[in-house]
Amino acid sequence: MAMSFSASVDLSDKEFEMFRDLVFKKSGISLHEGKKELVRTRLGALVRKGGFKSYKEYYHFVENDKTEMEIVSLLDAISTNLTSFFREPSHFTFLTETIIPQIVESKRATGDKDVRVWSAGCSSGEEPYSLAFTLMDHMETIQTWNVKILATDLSTQVLEMAKKGLYKDDRVKAMPQNILRKYFQKGVKDNSGTYRVRPEAQQMISFKRFNLMDPTFPFHKKFSFIFCRNVMIYFDKPTQQKLIAKYYNVLEPNGYLLIGHSESLTGVKHQFKYIKPTIYRKS
Ligand SMILES: C[S@@+](CC[C@H](N)C(=O)[O-])C[C@H]1O[C@@H](n2cnc3c(N)ncnc32)[C@H](O)[C@@H]1O
Repeated sequence: MAMSFSASVDLSDKEFEMFRDLVFKKSGISLHEGKKELVRTRLGALVRKGGFKSYKEYYHFVENDKTEMEIVSLLDAISTNLTSFFREPSHFTFLTETIIPQIVESKRATGDKDVRVWSAGCSSGEEPYSLAFTLMDHMETIQTWNVKILATDLSTQVLEMAKKGLYKDDRVKAMPQNILRKYFQKGVKDNSGTYRVRPEAQQMISFKRFNLMDPTFPFHKKFSFIFCRNVMIYFDKPTQQKLIAKYYNVLEPNGYLLIGHSESLTGVKHQFKYIKPTIYRKS
């Protein structure tokens, strides 16, 4: 492997197209022309680290890697993982005031005690933990229910962080103090300046690597609701449409799909009933 990569090595249009096609094929993430600089900087770090003399050489290395470890690193570098606790708070209000009471009422009527929730594109865990705190706070007698949150992402890096449940204090500082006290342990000594999610909340969540582009969603139980927020924004409309159809199939009747506030299903054919902006329900 050559060691002569210099800062002057540029990403040609042809190389950008090769990476764009590869990323799209593997993740559904659609990189338009304006993302060339992002690809150049984020992959440039991997090119330098691996000692490749060009982006093209790195591309072929990734393509020929049978272990798939390299494509995982490439997608880790490309994906945007921005998130925060209780992001887009109106969704948590809707969860508290509408979704939870409806789940409790309908499941009580049938005697079904299983509640399945999916945080699809969970990033470093702030979203599924916020769901766990909300369910624990607002679902009466939660201990008598079997509530499980599946939290999935493509990126192995963010999933490692999510599983640890350990956050620097600037990530939790906007959180209501009562939630912080109730669901986090403040780090001391070597861990000072950090907060760790308490095991009761952590135990509700299974973190798994899962690619939303997988043709089949292999879940045994249907979900009461799915949060897939700020993920589809990276996909083109045909990809969104296929994904939305798969979500529809894995939701319980009357189950909810919540998408990010900057997203919409306009231009996407689907069977969901529109409830209000960013909130859809299986009919
Ligand atoms: C901006 S974050 C959103 C995190 C969280 N849902 C929120 O709204 O705060 C988008 C996440 O989607 C994940 N993602 C992108 N493409 C994916 C795919 N094909 N399968 C699974 N996750 C994907 C990224 O790795 C990233 O962590």
